[in-house]
Amino acid sequence: MAAEVRHGDAASVLRAMPAASVDMIYLDPPFGTQVDWVGKAGRFSDKFKWDDESKSLWAQMTSAHPVLASILEGATVAPRDRAYLVRMVLLFAELRRVLHPAGTLWLHCDDTMSAYLRLALDGVFGIERAMGGVIWKRTNAHNTARSFGRVHDSIFVYGLTRAAKWRLHRTRHPLIQGDPCEGAVVVDGFIDKLFLNPTSKERVGYPTQKPVALLEQFIAAATMAGDVVLDPTCGSGTTLVAATKMGRRAIGIDASADACAVARRRLAEMESETNGKACRESGKGSRRPRRAGSVGDLFEPAPHDERYRNQQTTRHAVSAGFYQEAAD
Ligand SMILES: C[S@@+](CC[C@H](N)C(=O)[O-])C[C@H]1O[C@@H](n2cnc3c(N)ncnc32)[C@H](O)[C@@H]1O
Repeated sequence: MAAEVRHGDAASVLRAMPAASVDMIYLDPPFGTQVDWVGKAGRFSDKFKWDDESKSLWAQMTSAHPVLASILEGATVAPRDRAYLVRMVLLFAELRRVLHPAGTLWLHCDDTMSAYLRLALDGVFGIERAMGGVIWKRTNAHNTARSFGRVHDSIFVYGLTRAAKWRLHRTRHPLIQGDPCEGAVVVDGFIDKLFLNPTSKERVGYPTQKPVALLEQFIAAATMAGDVVLDPTCGSGTTLVAATKMGRRAIGIDASADACAVARRRLAEMESETNGKACRESGKGSRRPRRAGSVGDLFEPAPHDERYRNQQTTRHAVSAGFYQEAAD
C-alpha cells in the first residue's frame, strides 16, 4: 500500500518516527470548539479539561518552550483553552522534528482558536518561517438573526528553510506566489466552491470530513510525485485518499479507532477501484497506471529506490549548507 494508517495519540506515535522524514504535513486537528462531534461513521471529542494531565503537559511545555508558555499563559483566559493549546504545542514540536528541511506544514483551523494557534506555531517554528496561508470558504453563508455565520477556515503554512521556498516555487501552483530569487515565496489564495454537498457520494459519515478536491489543491502546491505526506489527525482519511490518488505516499494517524477504520476502508476501496480499472484497461491493451511506492519502506528505503537516491542528494545538500535554517 502507498498509504498507511496508525492508531494512537499523534504526539506519541510521532515520537517513534525518524527526524526529517516527511515532505508535507497537513493537519486538521480539533479546533478547540469544546463540543463533541458526532457522525454516522464515528465521533471525536473537541472538549478539553484543565486536569492533572493538562497541568503536567503544561510543565513539560514550560521547560521546552518557556517564552511561548508565558505568552500563552498571559493570552489565554479559559483554563480549558490552555488544556487544548498545550496539546497543540507539544504536537507541533513533534511535527517540526519529523518535517524534512525542504518540506512544509499546513495547519487547518477556524477562527475559534486561530490567533492562539498562530502564536503557538510562531513559537515552535519561528515567526520568520511563516509562509502565508489560504482561506477556504467552506460552505454557503448561514447567517443567524444575531450574527453572520462562520463560513471560512484558515490554513497556515510554515516551512523550515529556504529550500522549502524553492520546492513550493517548483510546483508552479496558483496558490504559490513570488520568486525565491527575489527572496519571497508565499502561499496566498482564496478557495471557493470546493465544499462537500450534504448529498455528495464522497461523504462517509465522519464528522468534519473535508473534500478530497481541497486536499488535492494543497498537495499539488506542496509536493512532487513520490513525496511523503503526513496527516497526524487524519479522521476519515481524506488526505491519504487525495495523496494516494496523486501518486504520493501517505501516512495518517488518528486517536479514534472509528476514524482509522473508515480511513482504511476508503483506501482499500480506492485500491480495488484502481486495480479493477487497470484490469479493464489492460484488457484493452493499455498500460497499468503508474503507482506510488509503498509505505512499507517509508522510513527504510532500499538503495535501489529512487527516493533513496533523492535522500542521498538531500543529505549532500544538507552537508553543503543548502538548507539554511533561516527562512528569510
Ligand atoms: C477535524 S477531524 C479530521 C477530519 C479529517 N480531516 C477528515 O477529512 O475526515 C480531527 C481528528 O483528530 C483526531 N484527534 C484528536 N485528537 C487526536 C490526537 N491526540 N492524536 C491523533 N488524532 C487526534 C480526532 O479523532 C479526529 O478524527
